Amino acid sequence: MIWVVVGYLCGSWLAALSVCQLAGVPDPRFCGSCNPGFSNVLRLYGPRLAAATLLLDTLKAIPAVLAAKLLTLPIWLQGIVGLAVLLGHSYPLWHGFRGGKAVASAFGVLLVLVPSVALLSAVCWSLLAWRLRTAAVASLISALIAPLACLWLAPAYVGVVSGFSVLVLTRHGLNIRRLRRGEEPNLHD
Ligand code: G3P
Repeated sequence: MIWVVVGYLCGSWLAALSVCQLAGVPDPRFCGSCNPGFSNVLRLYGPRLAAATLLLDTLKAIPAVLAAKLLTLPIWLQGIVGLAVLLGHSYPLWHGFRGGKAVASAFGVLLVLVPSVALLSAVCWSLLAWRLRTAAVASLISALIAPLACLWLAPAYVGVVSGFSVLVLTRHGLNIRRLRRGEEPNLHD
């Protein structure tokens, strides 16, 4: 239980806000896509701040999930700890429960639980983002691919990885609506 709470609290820390505050640039929750995450920071402030956001949002996901894994908790419980991190990022306690889309954090959680699936998802995301130039489409497709990759690479984790994917997909409702209207911003805009 303690690791679920630690996971949620770590997830609640939004790296984009601290990175932007340190850099002295406006809060990304009020500019661009209003998402406090890697893609919006990249479009608004360039690769340096975006890389820092991506790295920190990924790293914050690791401690609680790693503890759950090292303690050899059952897989479903490791999954709950991972989900707590993603819920923390998506609905953070200290920001009025208004957070991000949990893509980088999901990558961090997967890195610990199923590294092969994490790496495959990261390669898919990068190729799709580079080819299609739309972060949300890359995230949506990668979230669909992850459980399928799990079927092949780590079948015991299919259930928990599917849970992570459902959360990430539901966090992209606004993007899906923008994509339908043809208004989704290009990653390089
Ligand atoms: O990683 C988040 C991405 O999938 C969407 O972010 O800022 O383009 O809405 P954004």
